[in-house]
Amino acid sequence: MDDYQRKPGQKQSRVRAMLKILLLLVTTNVTTAYFFSSPSSSVKWTDYAPRFPLWDTDALLRELNSTHDKLAAARQQIDELNIRLQTSNYLMEELTTEFRKPRQPVEVADDLSTSLSGELKLVVEAHKLPLGRSGNVGSEELFPVLGSACRRHQRDLEQYMTYEVGGQCPVDDVFAQRLMLQGCEPLPRRRCKPKTPKGYIEPSPLPDSLWSIPPDSSIIWEPYTCKNYGCLVNRNKMPGFFDCKDCFDLGGREKDRWMFEIANLGYSIDQVLATKPQGTVRIGLDLGGGSGTFAARMRERNITIVTTTMNFDGPFNSFIASRGLIPLHISISQRLPFFDNTLDIIHSMHVISNWIPDTMLEFALFDIYRVLRPGGLFWLDHFFCIGSQLNATYVPMFDRIGFKKLRWNTGRKVDRGAELNEWYFSALLEKPMT
Ligand SMILES: *[C@@H]1O[C@H](CO)[C@@H](O)[C@H](O)[C@H]1NC(C)=O
Ligand SMILES: *[C@@H]1O[C@H](CO)[C@@H](O)[C@H](O)[C@H]1NC(C)=O
Ligand SMILES: *[C@@H]1O[C@H](CO)[C@@H](O)[C@H](O)[C@H]1NC(C)=O
Repeated sequence: MDDYQRKPGQKQSRVRAMLKILLLLVTTNVTTAYFFSSPSSSVKWTDYAPRFPLWDTDALLRELNSTHDKLAAARQQIDELNIRLQTSNYLMEELTTEFRKPRQPVEVADDLSTSLSGELKLVVEAHKLPLGRSGNVGSEELFPVLGSACRRHQRDLEQYMTYEVGGQCPVDDVFAQRLMLQGCEPLPRRRCKPKTPKGYIEPSPLPDSLWSIPPDSSIIWEPYTCKNYGCLVNRNKMPGFFDCKDCFDLGGREKDRWMFEIANLGYSIDQVLATKPQGTVRIGLDLGGGSGTFAARMRERNITIVTTTMNFDGPFNSFIASRGLIPLHISISQRLPFFDNTLDIIHSMHVISNWIPDTMLEFALFDIYRVLRPGGLFWLDHFFCIGSQLNATYVPMFDRIGFKKLRWNTGRKVDRGAELNEWYFSALLEKPMT
């Protein structure tokens, strides 16, 4: 906060911004409250009690008709309330973000203390190279790799590096992944062994493995809410799951994904491959590829795809591997571990969207451009945003990066109400040859 108080001008404008948002919030909520309490919307059960003899069918029909109308009106009011509630939530999020902002410069300045010990000290400090072996390194010392934001989480790092050397690692996948998502990526290496599943069974041979659900005994279920694959397959019917809800159900919606062109936003693999000479799309990447179905479909076409995925309340990485495909446990923030001008195709569905802060998104898109070979394809599948962001932010951003647009489609997302002005765009982009 010290740093923050030294900038009164900036502080005033922040306070003004916060006040504006607060005012908006209050206005929205007052409107909602008025809406709830206004006589037209209050429900009295006596309104619906019949006031006529039950054998009077005409009256009964009229009453039914009027009840029907009232129900329709009530439904519409509920929909409107929902939209107001969503707007409130959105403003609340904005407000929270606004409150968090001033703390950032202070946090960035945080660093690991100089008195580290044990395993943590070993993975942070430089290590002397043998004499005469500094040629390729360009330094007398070798530094272990560690995500820069790890330095802001010393206590968590200490916990992460606490284990018996040579023994079994703690089952701390969820904790470790959260550290990664907070920028401590890559995590430091450890000298312990992951717990192995008790009843591990050899995977099914290819190509059967591509569409088989592996035995439950082949992974550690401890970190997850679901304790077997049957539960994961059905998790689209359970509350509280948000990521990739039905993608473990290989016999369900997964079976048809990317097999057909759907409206204007869903491209099919075969249509996309047809834009390049036969056989020239051979290797690539699916960013945030869920359970690996895109890679499976490409594998059936003799194309090798690496799938990045996080384990969001499900063993995504283990599942992809059991299908005989390559999982890569990195987040969207990480520099892609491929060399410049190498990959034939990069695909990403629903993951690259407006939740990524603009600056980070632009760096990520330049990184995608970097690893694609000249003539390589970037298939951006269902990028989600608000209508105003589309032309104001994203179209100019993609223009700046300089992909050639082979296909570009926009479509409104209306399932939560048209007033929210939510959009998707899908694009097939090509890195120029020169
Ligand atoms: C109920 O509504 C339907 C269609 O809106 C109409 O055809 C019918 O005559 C109405 N019945 C009565 C009893 O008002
Ligand atoms: C994939 O490669 C195998 C072995 O070379 C070949 O027999 C098969 O026809 C290929 N499949 C496709 C879809 O190209
Ligand atoms: C974006 O701009 C295009 C072209 O000017 C226009 O047709 C389209 O309606 C705009 N889209 C949105 C969501 O505002």
